[in-house]
Formats: sequence, C-alpha cells, structure tokens
Amino acid sequence: MEKEELTSVDLDYVRDLVRTKSAIVLEPEKAYLVHSRLEPVAKGEGLLSLAELVKKMRMAPYGALHKKVVEAMTTNETSFFRDLALFHALREQLLPEIIVRKGATKRLNIWCGASSSGQEPYSIMFTIVEHFPEMKDWHIQFTATDLSEGMLAKCREGKYSQLEVNRGLSVTHLTHFFSKKGMGWQVNEDIRRRIDFQSMNLIGPWLPFPTLDIVFLRNVMIYFDTETKKQILANIREKLDPTGYLFLGGSETTINLDDQYERVAISGASCYRVKKG
Ligand SMILES: C[S@@+](CC[C@H](N)C(=O)[O-])C[C@H]1O[C@@H](n2cnc3c(N)ncnc32)[C@H](O)[C@@H]1O
Repeated sequence: MEKEELTSVDLDYVRDLVRTKSAIVLEPEKAYLVHSRLEPVAKGEGLLSLAELVKKMRMAPYGALHKKVVEAMTTNETSFFRDLALFHALREQLLPEIIVRKGATKRLNIWCGASSSGQEPYSIMFTIVEHFPEMKDWHIQFTATDLSEGMLAKCREGKYSQLEVNRGLSVTHLTHFFSKKGMGWQVNEDIRRRIDFQSMNLIGPWLPFPTLDIVFLRNVMIYFDTETKKQILANIREKLDPTGYLFLGGSETTINLDDQYERVAISGASCYRVKKG
C-alpha cells in the first residue's frame, strides 16, 4: 500500500461521513487515526491507497463499504469489570435496593448501550448471578446495544482470548461462567441467552425499550459533540423509571448538559438519576 497522506478534502469527507453516521467527532489532528484505522480496510478491499478507498466511497451510494469505514473509526476499548466502583455500587447498593423496591413484581429492565465486545454487559450479568441468587426467578430484560455489527457478533458469540479474560476476570468468574474453547474461553450459554444483543445507533431510531431501571452508557458520549450528548441524555430521561439509575463513564457527566439529572454518590461511581418533581 502506498504510504501517502490523505488530502484535506478526502480527510474531511471521512470526518463528515463518520460524524453523520455515528456522531463521532474526529478533530483534524486525528488524521493519524484515520490512516491507521482505514489502511486495513483499504487493504481488505484490494485497494492500493486510502485515496482510492475514499474515491470508491464517493462514487457509490452509502452502503456496506461506508459502514465498514464508520465501524473502523469507532474505538472499542473495554474490559471485564472496567471501573470497580460501578460494580461495587451495583452489588452493595443498587441491586439490594431494587430487590426491596421491585420484589413484588420481580421485573428488572436493563439497557447497556455502546456495549462494544460485550465485556461490560457480561460483567453486569455475572454480578447479578454471583451475588443475587434470590433473583433467579426474576424476569430480567437485559438489552445490550452497539453500532458495530462486528462487535455485536462477538458479543453474541461470547468468545474471548486468554488476554481478554486476563483483563478484569477472577479465576472464580472464569470457572463459573466460561468454558474453555480452543485457545480461548466462551461465556456459557445460560448466561449468553440472558442478554439480548441488538444493533442500535444512538443517533438513529431507538429500540422500543420498556421503562428502564438501570442504564449503562459508558465511554461513548466522550466522542460526541455537546448537542448530541444533550439529545441522548434527554432520550434516556424519557425511558428511565423515576427511581432508575444512569451510569456514565468515569470522565463523563450530565453537568452543563442536562440539569434535570442529579449525581448520586454511590461508591464513587459516575451515577445519576432524574431529579424529583
Ligand atoms: C469505548 S467503547 C465503550 C465500551 C463499554 N461501554 C465500556 O465502557 O467499556 C465505545 C463503543 O461505542 C460504540 N459507538 C460509537 N458510536 C456509536 C453510536 N453512534 N451508536 C451506538 N454505539 C456507538 C462503538 O462501536 C464502541 O463499541
């Protein structure tokens, strides 16, 4: 592949495409990221340069190639039990509180948006199963979504390399919830089938969620502009039960974006609920 820089016009084409289709804002100084992420895509298409890739996209209506490029520009960094404060909060306060509050109906609705390769939703499900056996007969509707079809396929399969399971999982988790598959590990079927992995673009039409008790939308809004963050936070408010909780990533907040949320201090987690009245 020719090692040539994209022209600023071609770079702007990619930045506009990614922004329109995913809301991800790529600052011009992120040109290096565009190069490193798109070179494998161009190569996979049998093209000799990134300029050819952009030319091919320009000449065709929006389709599979454009989608592949947008997906390649998403950052999928994640790990099991990423942010221990969140899981501490879930275990020590949130779920015990929910068991009392919703014990009569035994229904719990969870949405984990931007679930990447699945480590986050699986960590949540492991927490429920490991620490709350009394929830065995609860109806838990757990939906996990992402924009990337590639990530969703990995979520559904639940297969992880040794390196991936080494990041955040204890031996107990591994022996309780996984089976050895070749060189890696696969989440057991009884856990996999309890999470409904669905495609959803946060700036597209949303799935018809039931009223949600817990929402995780972590480490994705950092890539969006202020207006998009405001819109997403407003959408979540509409779906969230008045007693429900929203978890954001450690560097994300509702402050200066949506004053109808209040921060709740639980174990240092980035946790919010809608203000009363
Ligand atoms: C950094 S990962 C976050 C993973 C996980 N939530 C965590 O905190 O470990 C960001 C994820 O957001 C997804 N994403 C980016 N833009 C999106 C959009 N517009 N709609 C839905 N998902 C999006 C990406 O595909 C990626 O998997």
